[in-house]
Amino acid sequence: MAKPQKRYVCQACGSATSKWQGQCVDCGEWNSLAEEASNVTVFSARHDLRTGGRVFELAGLDADVALPPRMATGIAEFDRALGGGLVAGSATLIGGDPGIGKSTLLLQAAARIAMAGGDVAYISGEEAADQVRLRARRLGLGDAPVKLASATSVRDILATVGQGQAPALLVIDSIQTMHSDVIEGAPGTVSQVRASAQELIRFAKERGTALILVGHVTKDGTIAGPRVLEHMVDTVLAFEGERSHQYRILRAIKNRFGGTDEIGVFAMAEGGLDEVTNPSALFLTHRGEEIAGATVFPAMEGTRPVLVEIQALVVRLQSGATPRRAVVGWDSGRLAMILAVLEARCGLSFSTAEVYLNVSGGYRLSDPAADLAVAAALISALAERPVPPDAVAFGEVALSGEVRPVAHGGLRLREAAKLGFTGALVPKGSENGALRLAEFATLGGLVDHLLGRG
Ligand code: TYD
Ligand code: MG
Repeated sequence: MAKPQKRYVCQACGSATSKWQGQCVDCGEWNSLAEEASNVTVFSARHDLRTGGRVFELAGLDADVALPPRMATGIAEFDRALGGGLVAGSATLIGGDPGIGKSTLLLQAAARIAMAGGDVAYISGEEAADQVRLRARRLGLGDAPVKLASATSVRDILATVGQGQAPALLVIDSIQTMHSDVIEGAPGTVSQVRASAQELIRFAKERGTALILVGHVTKDGTIAGPRVLEHMVDTVLAFEGERSHQYRILRAIKNRFGGTDEIGVFAMAEGGLDEVTNPSALFLTHRGEEIAGATVFPAMEGTRPVLVEIQALVVRLQSGATPRRAVVGWDSGRLAMILAVLEARCGLSFSTAEVYLNVSGGYRLSDPAADLAVAAALISALAERPVPPDAVAFGEVALSGEVRPVAHGGLRLREAAKLGFTGALVPKGSENGALRLAEFATLGGLVDHLLGRG
């Protein structure tokens, strides 16, 4: 028997090395390596994979496919994000910040399915069963026949739900609280999360249960611990929103059984999460009426579009004091550049005015596609003429004043259309979607358009 090798696994990114180091070479995190008992043994060369295999059949792409049965949650926005409902024998991971409403959403879905006759087990590792019961009562779901328990041992959970007919839906809230006794380490470590998830997913696949795992999200927005978790499950949904705001977005990041373009929109209310069928209303209410200096920018967060509001304020100075420029959420150098282009190429003067720029929601934009939206906000603020509130804006601005196309234009437009926007201020030659486009080759064109000179 070969001697098991020691290995050290980064608790932030899951990468493994054979030597302890202060800093992970893959993700750069400090003090994140922890020793993990390895079940990888060193094999000798006499293990030869070329002999002794079982022959299987290869078939064409046109062979018959049985579509996996889907179970609607009865919450249309949830089903939409899932691509039509939960798939039997599949695993879904729902990630999100603490307090964003993951437990609330899943309790509501579990109750709906149970009330429609589905067999549902809800296991909370975070809260006592009574806490969950009280929440269910507050949500008016106290009578739903959900089977509830508070537990953290994966072995006990599988023994319990594995008796007789397996449940149609098993909710595990959260995977970071689960503990598998086949592996050492505290709950929440990469190895525990991975081992627990592996066992639960295996159960789901074998018994045809739809499994939902709740996952916490770390500061940088990834699902805590392991990226590997995202690879293990079939569907990854992110539940996003700002706790200070009411709206929540459920977004498919990965879906083996559907598209990742769909999002579900909810509003957190007294009675739990309400579905929002007309999301633009939500986004536009806090924008108020037509306000000069505000534009909506469909930003790309990694591969995902996120709509943010850009606000500009221009204050004309009477005295000759040096005007201030202050930026929150964007690059101040880039603001200076846009102001310079507006001055030099479009004849607008900001030199005697203070300029404030803010990206709503505490977002930090690094996307150069924000140029056109920022320019529109600045022109609108200077002229005190609102940008049409039902339009988004994006495009890169060059020093020449040219407006250039940006990556993922189609995706940005689709996201805006989905969120209820009807128009867009975009670079010339943008791919047309469902929106009314106003296309610009130069920043001067945008100025003319916004000032009604076009
Ligand atoms: P929760 O579902 O516990 O979040 P998570 O599981 O993602 O950590 O949601 C908690 C927050 O939601 C809490 O701050 C209170 C709020 N909330 C409401 O506003 N209304 C409600 O009906 C419920 C149940 C929660
Ligand atoms: Mg919770």
